[in-house]
Amino acid sequence: MCGIIGVIARRDVGATLLEGLKNLEYRGYDSAGFAVIRDGDGFVVRKEVGRVGQLDQYLPDAAGGKIGIAHTRWATHGPPTQINAHPHLSNDGRFAIVHNGIIENYAVLRELLEKYGVRFVSQTDSEVVAQLIAHEARNGAADPIREAVLRLEGTFGLLILDRENPNRLVAVRQGSPLLIGIGEGEYYAASDAAAILAHTRQVIYIDDGEIAEITLDGFQTHTFANEPVVHAPSRIDWEIESIEKGGYPHFMLKEIMEQPQALRNCFAGRLRPVEGTVRLGGIAPLEDDFIRRLGRLVITGCGTAWHAGLVGEYLLEELARLSVEVEYASELRYRNPILGYGDLLIAISQSGETADTLAALREARLRGARVMGICNVVGSTIAREAGIGVYTHAGPEIGVASTKAFVTQVATLAMLAIQWGRLRGVLSHVDATRLAESLEQIPNHIAHACGQSDTIRAIAEAYADTSNALYLGRGINFPIALEGALKLKEIAYIHAEGYPAAEMKHGPIALIDERMPVVVIATEDKIRDKILSNIHEIRARKGRVVAVATEGDTAIAENASHVIYVPRVPPILSPLVNVIPLQLLAYHAAAIRGCEIDKPRNLAKSVTVE
Ligand code: F6R
Repeated sequence: MCGIIGVIARRDVGATLLEGLKNLEYRGYDSAGFAVIRDGDGFVVRKEVGRVGQLDQYLPDAAGGKIGIAHTRWATHGPPTQINAHPHLSNDGRFAIVHNGIIENYAVLRELLEKYGVRFVSQTDSEVVAQLIAHEARNGAADPIREAVLRLEGTFGLLILDRENPNRLVAVRQGSPLLIGIGEGEYYAASDAAAILAHTRQVIYIDDGEIAEITLDGFQTHTFANEPVVHAPSRIDWEIESIEKGGYPHFMLKEIMEQPQALRNCFAGRLRPVEGTVRLGGIAPLEDDFIRRLGRLVITGCGTAWHAGLVGEYLLEELARLSVEVEYASELRYRNPILGYGDLLIAISQSGETADTLAALREARLRGARVMGICNVVGSTIAREAGIGVYTHAGPEIGVASTKAFVTQVATLAMLAIQWGRLRGVLSHVDATRLAESLEQIPNHIAHACGQSDTIRAIAEAYADTSNALYLGRGINFPIALEGALKLKEIAYIHAEGYPAAEMKHGPIALIDERMPVVVIATEDKIRDKILSNIHEIRARKGRVVAVATEGDTAIAENASHVIYVPRVPPILSPLVNVIPLQLLAYHAAAIRGCEIDKPRNLAKSVTVE
């Protein structure tokens, strides 16, 4: 996730900006940069791809700069390059901006500005902000920043410098966190308190829809409608370490709780329920006719990404009537797969660097198939080599166990299935609209499921000493059983197996006794009654059932030892919600067992070797 900091002081601010960026490094980033206005001779802008430390060499260039902004970038639009790094300048060199968030209507604005002769230098959505403000200024707007902000759609935390008003730092907030720090005769603005904590603990939290103008004399905040707002300062008592984890004890829990926002970012600018459509820009090079005639669609990935692929199989089969095969990348690459001209391979990878997934992608391409990626890390090898694809925009995932990457991968596959279902003429406009509306509500349902963390912790207490567990699910929730079991294995070191519920009779039932906890996904759908029968079978053998059920389903509760309720959602979207309690169950079991949650033994975040 991008991090931003701005400083206005009576002393040189270069070192403070770089120190602030270093304290934002934990958020994950791929490039960084700063801009200061130097007495007398305008902006000095320096940017680098890679570590923040590389900017240290430019510190002497910032001498004389008493006002400045800086940024760590986590690429969303355009790969991590020096040009795409922030700050961005307007063509006329008057305005410099740093941006955290996504400008959803950037393409429309960019096209419009290009018609006026504005020359864009980067591929980012953010540059449009600098160019738009300058455009408004050229058109004589009294307040060009406000005029420009009113035309932006999406999420943004912005810091803006104006060369013609070099004693003022402007901060704008809409959907991305932003605070002002009050120092001794100097002021700071930042996306995150970690950036400024070394200098002050007195802060003002700006609200969405507000603009703050900061000078050495103080600051004024007003709404986008220009109404003044007064905020009382608060004091930060946290230490940097706990801010990094958002106050949570582990990155994994922070990332679980971040899932509603990760999904909103994933949907931004793509999900258009009003028009009843989904628009995934990154797959535009796949011609409509190619998708209409698609013969074979193979999805590949490893671990959790492979589980997302399995959910995708159900989604694409059901909504787009595509025949899909899902293959472990490590298997696919060494087989003699029937993949060639007219076929498509989708490679799913959070990191975009997993060696087996990359090799499978190359193998498919070598055989003449088209390839596309679903990746989180912009500019990663798989994303670049695929050329065509969709970024999940989950933000950096630091915990080794994948959580928010998984839900955004599944959500991306759901959007893909809706878009292709419409394109292939097998999904009606009404159904597509309804699904898009339901999808848009999923972040709220996930937030609700996250709210049950304490209940789930109590359940985890009851099972934390177990050595084995079974996870059962059916249909589109069978992959969720696999994912729940994987989470428990990798972070709590409890042996767990995921099974299709009906397969239990063909073997695993022999394992069931009073010591075997069985986690059953039993939410409402057309086979819920059959799952209830499976629960009876487990109970008859004294197995202990932890059921994930739809709110209000008392019959499941009567037959389970414990029930975790989740909100009612269309069954085809239920994996997005049902996985949440399973992530939390594994997390709490691991915490109770004292495991090292964010870095489980023997595991790496990105497996770049075979
Ligand atoms: C499990 C987990 C792994 C990854 C797998 C693929 O929690 O994180 O199973 O899903 O190593 O990684 P990516 O998605 O980076 O290709």
